[in-house]
Formats: sequence, structure tokens, C-alpha cells
Amino acid sequence: MVARENMAKMKAQKPSQDEIAKALGALKRARPSLTPDDFAAPLLDWYASHGRDLPWRKRWPELTPAYDVFLSELMLQQTVVATVIPYFERFKSLWPTISDLAQSSEEALLKEWAGLGYYARARNLRKAAIAIVNDHDGRFPEDEKALLTLPGVGPYTAAALSAFAFDKPAIVLDGNVERVMARFAGLITPLPALKSELRAVYPRLAPRAQHSDFAQAIMDLGSSICIAGTPRCDICPLAPRCVMAHKPEASYLPVKPKKQPKPKRQGVIFVATKQGKAVMMRRDAKGLLGGMMGFPTKGWESSKEAMGATDLGIKDAPFAADWRPLNQEVRHIFTHFELSLRVYHTTYEGEDLPDGLTLHVPDDVGLASVFAKVWQMVAASD
Ligand code: ADE
Repeated sequence: MVARENMAKMKAQKPSQDEIAKALGALKRARPSLTPDDFAAPLLDWYASHGRDLPWRKRWPELTPAYDVFLSELMLQQTVVATVIPYFERFKSLWPTISDLAQSSEEALLKEWAGLGYYARARNLRKAAIAIVNDHDGRFPEDEKALLTLPGVGPYTAAALSAFAFDKPAIVLDGNVERVMARFAGLITPLPALKSELRAVYPRLAPRAQHSDFAQAIMDLGSSICIAGTPRCDICPLAPRCVMAHKPEASYLPVKPKKQPKPKRQGVIFVATKQGKAVMMRRDAKGLLGGMMGFPTKGWESSKEAMGATDLGIKDAPFAADWRPLNQEVRHIFTHFELSLRVYHTTYEGEDLPDGLTLHVPDDVGLASVFAKVWQMVAASD
């Protein structure tokens, strides 16, 4: 109990990087035993009764089809499991196999991906499906090197496919796995250097079989017990051998590099409505939110544009109208910048829109989150 209270206190105080380094350096380091008997065995026992049932997941000795692994893993990058489940199910009902997906249009796929963010993932998903059909007889290659040649497949996804779909002893390192292993083995090296230590440790903790369950079991433990912040060591099956179990300093691991504040960008966006519809445009295939439908906007979409954007306002509107600013801005956080958008609204009364602009019901076209926020604000202002 005292340990939990101490942990909570440490979390509340938000120590500096130097204080974290000092606290971790002062820990008397026990020598972790680092054998599969200490880690994989109790973990897989726990997984048998506590692992989540997920729509894409099969339990060893059954294996998840590679297409399901690919779809779910691309969706899960930067997105939580609960959000992904309905998207995964919808994709599987629309495109049950990799060759169905290869035949989809990019437009249809982007529409269904809307809300998941990082739209390059959706485009790569389709490109990879086409490559698998054209170059690999419609079957995913099994080895990590061949998998890495597919669009959108980096070391993490190649390892996940190799382990989950083909039961190979691949090293699957995501944020949960990094946290659980860093704590178990007491690895205090900050990320990203920590990764190479984890690659050395991983095979010593992994089981001799059941590779497909192993990393998924760690992920489930990481999302329910060995959580970011204060871990729940009192119910952890790995606590008896874990270097950091019940230590308040566990909440510091893995040590992350200092976060750089994101640059801020400003822009303007124009929403003209007509009887439940709004004037929209398909965005350039290249660039941010490429190929998605959106409202006309200006000033923020590339760093060059953001630097040159001063005095944005009604003069940047796509056509002359009685544009009125809403009294609140829309804020949205992208991976590499934070955006504030001034929203202008008008009721569209004309008949002929300028080239490239068309009327749509915004909720029917698949809106990226930033445009969904803008649309909600406009709808609420009426
Ligand atoms: N996060 C990423 N992949 C996952 C998986 N297969 N199971 C649970 N969480 C995950």
C-alpha cells in the first residue's frame, strides 16, 4: 500500500529528467534472472485466462490470418484498440480478402479510414495489397526481409506479421512491450538507445514455442497491469521476478527523451452550407490529408505555407460571399505541429461553384478528424 502511495506521489510531482536519472541511478540493481521460465511461462499462463478476445486475434496453436494481422496492426499504429475494433470489422465486411482490398478504389478506402488519422497508412495498405496480389500470388511473404519490401511495412509491422501470422520468433517491440520489458529487466537507458538493449534481452525472455501469443500477451499485460504511470504490481503475474516490482521508480520506465514542444500553425477554413450540405473539395493526392475530402482552407498545410502565412482572412475565401467568422477557433494536434483554425461560415446561395468545389453532406464523405471538428462547430453555431 505504502509503495502505491509513494508511486502516486512521485507521479503527481512530475520530476525533471535529471531527477529521474538520479533516482534510477541510485537504485540498487538486482540481477534479473532473464529466463523464459521467469517471464514467458507466467505471462502465457496469465494470457490464457486474462488475454483479450479481439476480432482479429486467434490463440495458439491457431494463427491469425496475415491479412487480419496486417489490417489490425496498421490501424493500431497511433490508435487505441477500442477505436480500431469497429473499423476492423467494417473493413473485413467490405473487403474480406487481400484481393478484394487490392481492387478497392483509394477514394472508398480513404472514406472508410476517416477518423483513424495518418492517412498515408490507408494508402499504403492498398498499395501493399496490390503488391501482394501482383508480386506474391496473393499470399503474404513469411520472412521479415520480404515483408519489409511492402509499402507501409516497417520493422514493427514486419515483426508482428512474422510472429502473429506465421509463429516465427520475431522481436515485436511496441510501446507496451518496451515498458514491460524495461521494467522487468530494470533497463534504465533512455529511449531510443534502450531499443538495442531490448533486442538483446527479448530472445532471453521469449518462449521456445507459441511465438504468436508471446508479444500479444505482453501487450495485454502492458495495457491492463504494467500500465504507463503507476503499474499494478499487486496483481502482476511477473512481479515475483521483476526488477522494478513495487518500486516507485517503475513509473519512470522506460525513460523517454525530453519532448520538444510542437510548432504552432494558424490557418483559416471556409464552410459554405446549403440545405444540410457544404461546399467541399478533394484535397491534392500529395501532402497532408492527401486525397481526402475537406473544406477550402489556407495557411497551414506545409511548413513553407505556414511560414509565409500572415494576414489570413476573408480575402483567402474560395469565392466572394457574406463570410462570418465563428467566435471560437478549432484546435487540432497533428504529429508534427499544433493547428488553430479560424472558421468562416456563410450560407451558399449561388448555383455555379468554382471548379473543383462541390456540394456534399459532410458526414457522408468520410471526414478527417480536423474537418469533423470544424463541421461540428459550424453545425453547433446554426
Ligand atoms: N497493439 C498492437 N497490436 C496489438 C495486438 N495484436 N493486440 C493487442 N494490442 C495491440
